[in-house]
Amino acid sequence: MKAFWVSLALIVAPITVAVAAETAIRPGAIWPDDKGVHINAHGGGVLLHDGVYYWFGEHKIGGDAGNRAHIGVHVYSSRHLTNWKDEGIALSVVDDPMSDIVKGSVIERPKVIYNKKTRKFVMWFHLELKGLGYKSARAGVAVADKVTGPYVYQGSFRPNAGVWPVNLSEADKDPAKTVVARDFETGQMARDMTLFVDDDGKAYHLYASEENHTMHISQLSEDYLRPAGKYARMMPMGDDEAPAIFKRNGRYYLLTSGLTGWAPNPAKSYVADHIFGPWKALGNPVRGTPEQAAVTFGGQSTFVLPYRGRFIFMGDIWRPKDAIDGRYFWLPIEWENEKPVIRWRDQWTLKDLEGLK
Ligand code: DGJ
Repeated sequence: MKAFWVSLALIVAPITVAVAAETAIRPGAIWPDDKGVHINAHGGGVLLHDGVYYWFGEHKIGGDAGNRAHIGVHVYSSRHLTNWKDEGIALSVVDDPMSDIVKGSVIERPKVIYNKKTRKFVMWFHLELKGLGYKSARAGVAVADKVTGPYVYQGSFRPNAGVWPVNLSEADKDPAKTVVARDFETGQMARDMTLFVDDDGKAYHLYASEENHTMHISQLSEDYLRPAGKYARMMPMGDDEAPAIFKRNGRYYLLTSGLTGWAPNPAKSYVADHIFGPWKALGNPVRGTPEQAAVTFGGQSTFVLPYRGRFIFMGDIWRPKDAIDGRYFWLPIEWENEKPVIRWRDQWTLKDLEGLK
């Protein structure tokens, strides 16, 4: 019985350490928030709004159960990216068994963007309905008036039902030949995802589709709440997930991973002159030992954060057996012959970015 209470305490006890003003970023280490609790924002992304950074991510609980949503999407704020204030749960799961976002559903890789016209904060996430494993492959949308929430759930769907990608050949419109044609009527599968707002205010939803074999980039409506009806296949049959997109000097860059569940694999990078492609492969962005390159330092991309003309790679080191203990690895993006590359650092500061190539 004692063993039971000890293991229960281990499952529910958040990891806490002493809080001190921090100037370094320590990839892979426990990252305490303002209360000394390890930040709980996995598969996350960051929104800069009115000079403050907001980090949104999956709130995980302990054990294997933590791979499903029991609490919701957590948000933290910071002015300087090193010390983060816990702003609470931005989107809460609910008890109602009829709701898509009932406790025990899967809510992954939430991202938030701000719509200047509607003045709403719009969150998209990958949703798997409770009890169906990863079969649902849906996109969920929630909206808030205030950046930290509460976000109000709007619904979920498979995007782009009844719409062909702009770059699909006539021959591939045969449902017997391609998954994109098979799913034409009902909408496209949407798993690992991110959002991107371009300089012209147009927003895009990037998602792993077609049984995870092909990513799509899908323009959003002006209010950012649904697909606009224009999308492209990105790297057909490239087996990419964990998308993180950014723009530098007018060109679009994309970092992804391969498909091995929670286990790490080699990262990939791409560049395009136009957002709808074509995307050209630039290879594995990891610089280091062959072991580091083979497993992307043990993790997977989730977001690239622009910071004063530089870019910060954000990734997750998953701990699927004890999900709450998942770690973050943020690394500076460096440039090598116009290719984005990342190197491991045990710790670094934002000042280090200034001296980089
Ligand atoms: C890899 C994805 O990148 C994660 O977000 C998650 O969906 C896991 N697969 C589940 O196995």
